[in-house]
Amino acid sequence: MTLRGLRTLNSADAVFLPATRGGMSYARSIVEEYLDEDRQEIVELVCPAYRDRAAIKSRWVELAQIVHERLGSGRTGVFICEGDPSLYSTWIHLRAGLKQIRSSLELRTIPGVTSVSAAAAMADFPLAGGNDCVLITPAAIDGAVLARSLEHAETLALLKQGGQLTMLADALQSVAPSARVALVRRAGRPNELILHGSDAIRTAAADYFTTVLISRSEE
Ligand SMILES: C[S@@+](CC[C@H](N)C(=O)[O-])C[C@H]1O[C@@H](n2cnc3c(N)ncnc32)[C@H](O)[C@@H]1O
Repeated sequence: MTLRGLRTLNSADAVFLPATRGGMSYARSIVEEYLDEDRQEIVELVCPAYRDRAAIKSRWVELAQIVHERLGSGRTGVFICEGDPSLYSTWIHLRAGLKQIRSSLELRTIPGVTSVSAAAAMADFPLAGGNDCVLITPAAIDGAVLARSLEHAETLALLKQGGQLTMLADALQSVAPSARVALVRRAGRPNELILHGSDAIRTAAADYFTTVLISRSEE
């Protein structure tokens, strides 16, 4: 978390956290030690896990309504999400819901450290220099997509890859056998895991909080 993020969290009257239906909040596990339950109202928002886009949108409007109701009479609130709030984040949905409810609401987005930057630092994996291109994608990567992506970018950062590592390792070995590869799971968390090379990533157990970095350069 950045210093500005921490200051904003400390000064908030209410803290909103994304959570799963099973009562898990990864975001909460990150900030737990900074919450002040005597002074702050802590509200977990159960995020939709549906595939239907319309259902997701309407659930986020419901969640935005909950946030809006809790922030009456000058109270301030923060919504905590993982990494940077502008990158594939639950904040994007909540922000849209809040704007839909009241377009004049004062909203601020505080930048965070993306999983791409965190993974690069943990794995000692430079992302780009000079005119290099970096492609950040959540797409499942098969051989054809991987080959095409590596034509356009020197470095790929693959998010949401937790369950497809065998397929990715096969694709890497067939279309980019000399690429540099690193997998970072749960960067910065107590159970962080860092693996190097496509053979090693094949063995990693599925985990949603996994980022894979691939570079055309072998260094
Ligand atoms: C919904 S996206 C959130 C991205 C986040 N807003 C960011 O700035 O990186 C979730 C994906 O981010 C990546 N991710 C989030 N936290 C991570 C962590 N601690 N270590 C590695 N990857 C992580 C994983 O690829 C995961 O599937």
